[in-house]
Amino acid sequence: MSDNIDTSWRHVTDLCGKTVVVTGCASGIGRATALQYASAGATVYGGDVNEAAGEAALAEIRAAGGQGRFFKLDLTDGASVDAFVDSVVETIGDAPDILANVAGLDRVMPFLENTPDVWELLIKVNYLGPVRMIHRFLPRMVARRSGKIVTVASDAGRVGSSGETFYAGTKGAIIAFTKSLARETARAGLTCNCVAPGPTDTPLFNGTIPDGKLRDALIKAIPLKRLAQPVEIAHTVVFLSTPATDFMTGQVVSVSGGLTMHG
Ligand SMILES: NC(=O)c1ccc[n+]([C@@H]2O[C@H](COP(=O)([O-])OP(=O)(O)OC[C@H]3O[C@@H](n4cnc5c(N)ncnc54)[C@H](O)[C@@H]3O)[C@@H](O)[C@H]2O)c1
Repeated sequence: MSDNIDTSWRHVTDLCGKTVVVTGCASGIGRATALQYASAGATVYGGDVNEAAGEAALAEIRAAGGQGRFFKLDLTDGASVDAFVDSVVETIGDAPDILANVAGLDRVMPFLENTPDVWELLIKVNYLGPVRMIHRFLPRMVARRSGKIVTVASDAGRVGSSGETFYAGTKGAIIAFTKSLARETARAGLTCNCVAPGPTDTPLFNGTIPDGKLRDALIKAIPLKRLAQPVEIAHTVVFLSTPATDFMTGQVVSVSGGLTMHG
């Protein structure tokens, strides 16, 4: 190789030897993210309420030569979050180098049709669960003065989305939380960022907006004229976990095919 080629890029995107927790690893963006972390060299600790599919994702990683383990996680249940954190800490002997909060839940309906049990469920999965997990891992990250926290929010939390009013509120909450956490933890050298996907081809999206006129109209409105593939969101999550982004914190990066453009 020529002496003139700077190979530092390879080093700032390498995650060999790093440990990462990925929630929502059983499906969609979380599954793609777990696979991409493994391909970047990290050891993956996956959590999901769907045990069979979560175990299968981790088995796929190991079959491809990667490393990792699955632990059951129900973000609606504080005791389950605590047990998950304890299992990870016991296995690694520390908090992970990287925490990727990807799991999430949506219920699409007019706000006037919401019932309080929908609010309870969404706030637990999309906000309180990740907050509890961060709160449990954080003391170890702060003590060792390193850690990267990446949370998958949504463009709904930045620009709103009809039929997703309460969901958008939970995503706006995790965005505001992440920005404040970034400020509080910067002195310890941590970074905290969000990825805000636009419409992405996953079971969650396909379940809420199946083939039909609404889906076609939405795709037409996206400047790049297609849905995102889960791996395209995963790439940004992984990027925000690498040393290439050591000077980025408190940021929200939209990956939406240009559907949203933020100043
Ligand atoms: N797909 C989209 O268009 C889109 C757009 C914007 C944001 N997002 C966000 O991306 C993230 C991933 O969504 P996706 O589209 O891949 O959905 P998905 O349904 O394919 O995957 C979500 C995963 O979260 C898990 N999960 C749900 N409830 C849980 C709980 N109580 N405890 C633990 N795990 C739980 C599910 O089992 C599933 O494996 C979510 O945070 C979602 O809000 C998705």
